[in-house]
Amino acid sequence: MSATSRTIAQLGAPVLRQIAVAVENVKAPQIQELAEDLFATLADTEGVGLAAPQIGESVRMMVIASRPTPRYPSAPLMQPTLLINPSFKALSEIREKGWEGCLSIPGIRAQVPRYTKIAVSYVDSQGQSLQLTLENFIARVFQHEYDHLDGLVYLDRVENNRDIITEQEFQKLIAGGR
Ligand code: NI
Repeated sequence: MSATSRTIAQLGAPVLRQIAVAVENVKAPQIQELAEDLFATLADTEGVGLAAPQIGESVRMMVIASRPTPRYPSAPLMQPTLLINPSFKALSEIREKGWEGCLSIPGIRAQVPRYTKIAVSYVDSQGQSLQLTLENFIARVFQHEYDHLDGLVYLDRVENNRDIITEQEFQKLIAGGR
């Protein structure tokens, strides 16, 4: 078994609009292989997270791997983490707008409201149940990936079309330090 970097589904692909199913047997070879492929596929990109539906598998699994990249220059560095059957609850009352993009929707960025602090529960690749508290950018990445498991994309959460800009304009914005 070797990890394969897979093609990323693009907006319009039906798999991105399906409700993904829970993983029943974490130790199943096809689940372990899917986990490897998620890591390998994300490593090939400048993204900071990837959900299984984005590589064509409608299963409740995601990888979050925040790190500074040209797409997200000020992202904090964290160990790439696999989350199986994740759930979360908001620990902040308010949601804050921040910039997001998506490997399945190239060329644009938008401001999306997200909870700034969340409590996450998930199962790891060994079948262990774990909890995490996530804040700010990493909480945002999690909520973005979580939406993919429910057939949502970040554009569904944009409050105003004026919050959507092109990647090119986004690059100008961050070069200007905003
Ligand atoms: Ni995405």
